[in-house]
Amino acid sequence: MFDFRQNADAHQILRRDSETLLPVYARYPVVMDHGEGVHLFDTSGNRYLDLMGGLGVNALGHAHPRMVQAMADQAGKLVHLSPQYASRYPGELAERLCALSGLKGVFYSTGGSEAVEGALKLARTHARQNFTHSKHGIVALRNSYHGRTYGSLSVTGQEKYRLDFGPGLPHVSFVDRDNLEQLRAAVTDGTAAILIEPILGEGGVHPISDVFLAEARALADQHQALLIFDEIQCGLGRTGEWFAYTRSGVQPDALILGKPLGGGIPLSALLVNEKLFNAFGLAKHGSTLGGSPLACRLGLEFLQTVEDEDLLARVADSGAYLMEQLRQLASSISIGVEARGRGLLLGMEITEPARPIAEAALAQGLLVNVVQGNVLRFLPSFLLQRKDIDVAMKVITGIMNPNPSGTSFHDAGHVLSKGMSASEPISQSALEPASV
Ligand SMILES: Cc1ncc(COP(=O)(O)O)c(C=O)c1O
Repeated sequence: MFDFRQNADAHQILRRDSETLLPVYARYPVVMDHGEGVHLFDTSGNRYLDLMGGLGVNALGHAHPRMVQAMADQAGKLVHLSPQYASRYPGELAERLCALSGLKGVFYSTGGSEAVEGALKLARTHARQNFTHSKHGIVALRNSYHGRTYGSLSVTGQEKYRLDFGPGLPHVSFVDRDNLEQLRAAVTDGTAAILIEPILGEGGVHPISDVFLAEARALADQHQALLIFDEIQCGLGRTGEWFAYTRSGVQPDALILGKPLGGGIPLSALLVNEKLFNAFGLAKHGSTLGGSPLACRLGLEFLQTVEDEDLLARVADSGAYLMEQLRQLASSISIGVEARGRGLLLGMEITEPARPIAEAALAQGLLVNVVQGNVLRFLPSFLLQRKDIDVAMKVITGIMNPNPSGTSFHDAGHVLSKGMSASEPISQSALEPASV
């Protein structure tokens, strides 16, 4: 067990953070110092196997030599440039993203929420330009997550996130995932866009069926609405394919990407098809920091590294291996509900709060994430290997099923009390409300 509190420096950093940073994240009582591959190291030198993966950003792990080299080289040349000037990498990256997705053009921004804002504006301006001013409806999924800014929050299908900030954007409706009847009833001629996360990530890791995606495509065509996929979390190789929607055969009108794209330097992208290429027009949209030469160069290095190291195949293999073990565990413990997901976007639902399990795992050198209170979510680096998974499963199994005769984590009560009896608990809640 690690005792994070032994380190006076870490203690001071945690204290200062708690006094200076707004308390919106249910943080863990540890201070990280550096990372290497699939591991993070804290300020005491403890090593952690990172299955949280920077919430999906660290697809190439930490300090990947190619990313470090590209970052250092580009930092010495050109980091930021006014978007009015051209440089080599934004167009080159756009060309690659379009070739991978079959779409036509790209608008860059910084974070995922900002790209979702762009998509919503695009849908509405497209509808106004081509149809009527009353065609502004957005249909999204219940339990979806699209971000924290006003537009993206308004289309996020979880009331708990919107509640304190209303009113949000009007003319947004939500349907249950995979409910064709609700979808058919919600999409009308007044719909500007249908917005779907092909795998609900923060919503608890729920893949959307191909049938539902196909129906959304058919309804969008029938009602001249746009079909937009938010693949900020599930895209760019996370499922073992470049995009989660690929296998469905359904082509969206617009696609939103983010998280791993800039290798940790903020970069998101809104990709659109031919008919939307000129929808914004001059000076109708923008982002000062979006698509910087540094971020785009890293985007290219990220894509090229995934290709050169054959990482899509690795994600498919290690994802299947991890899934199999999570399924076995879920079915063998009394608190297990199910394991689900695709590639290296996996979740294991249990009948109890999962935060104590994540905290116990942290105390044993394993980082996992919790969503929806009772789902352990795994978003590790694409570099993860079977041997890492064996280590992780040993820890998780030991915590959840310390006594293989069937005693649950809850019954066995407390791995936590050994490693985590911090004098000042950082998290007051068993839930993890701000974890996306
Ligand atoms: C599917 C999806 N959309 C949008 C966002 C928002 O992205 P960001 O936090 O970069 O603004 C996230 C973040 O987790 C996400 O998973």
